[in-house]
Amino acid sequence: MSTKRLSVVVTRRLPADVEARMAELFDVRVVGSDKPLDRAALLAALQDADILVPTLTDTIDAPLLAGAGERLKLIANYGAGVDHIDVATARQRGILVSNTPGVLTEDTADMGLALMLAVLRRMTEGMAKMQDGVWEGWAPEALLGTRLGGKSLGILGMGRIGQAMARRARAFGMNIHYHNRRRLHAGLEEPLEATFHERLDALVGLSDVISVNCPHTPSTFHLLNARRLKLMKPTAVIVNTSRGEVIDENALTRMLRAGELAGAGLDVYERGHGVNPRLRELPNVVLLPHMGSATREARQEMGEKVLVNMQTFADGHRPPDQVVP
Ligand code: DGY
Repeated sequence: MSTKRLSVVVTRRLPADVEARMAELFDVRVVGSDKPLDRAALLAALQDADILVPTLTDTIDAPLLAGAGERLKLIANYGAGVDHIDVATARQRGILVSNTPGVLTEDTADMGLALMLAVLRRMTEGMAKMQDGVWEGWAPEALLGTRLGGKSLGILGMGRIGQAMARRARAFGMNIHYHNRRRLHAGLEEPLEATFHERLDALVGLSDVISVNCPHTPSTFHLLNARRLKLMKPTAVIVNTSRGEVIDENALTRMLRAGELAGAGLDVYERGHGVNPRLRELPNVVLLPHMGSATREARQEMGEKVLVNMQTFADGHRPPDQVVP
């Protein structure tokens, strides 16, 4: 099938090579820029599009899908997480959804480990001293952090990224515990020397570090709510490279301010909330601007996955990374 006739709307600038290859194959309109696209512009662009290539900054909800033109048949998301897309409504309307799993696993886990190290070893506090020119030299008791080795890492969500976190943390001598909807089969669990906890409360209570690696879905929204956060050891820290909505951010902020938790490393925040200014005031909190997959390699490979999903669809088949509700 000639793909030239298919009209494609892309909401953000993608890596140049990906855009160029897409333009060779499809009739592409990049309606966005390096800023999130506003909803009215997206809706207007969707009137005569066959394929939409959105990112996590676009909310593809039921009203938007209802307002889109009849031709829309594929949403080829540039990204792994699809919590910004109403996949069930898309399916009801006969629109397929695909994503880009697998290619950002290692880079996101690298960032999870970096956050863990940064918080436990107080790196940003040390950096601030250097940048402010107030370092008074080495001292036996200055900026003491916590050793990773021998500590328990509780991984919430043992999919690809959770497992990649486990591999890294094992190399640092941490003990791996996890909670997941389903227990991993022995072939995966044994090499990680990971202990499964059916009860999330048990995992939360024993962990020195909690790493959030599950997707945001209706059933994981505020999984770490105020009650569960209170089960954490006061010496424990929490790291989140997945989605902000999995943690009740207000409850987390209150506990960090009250000293009921030792620290947090956050790459993601609750949607629409912006970054809570009270989190910015805390020295034991490391905040990053959603950089988990921000390597040139991952962003290129995400684009390649989008292209394969689009081409496969254009050839009359289901995209290899189809997401089902
Ligand atoms: C994704 O792909 O969902 C990531 O969060 C982007 O970094």
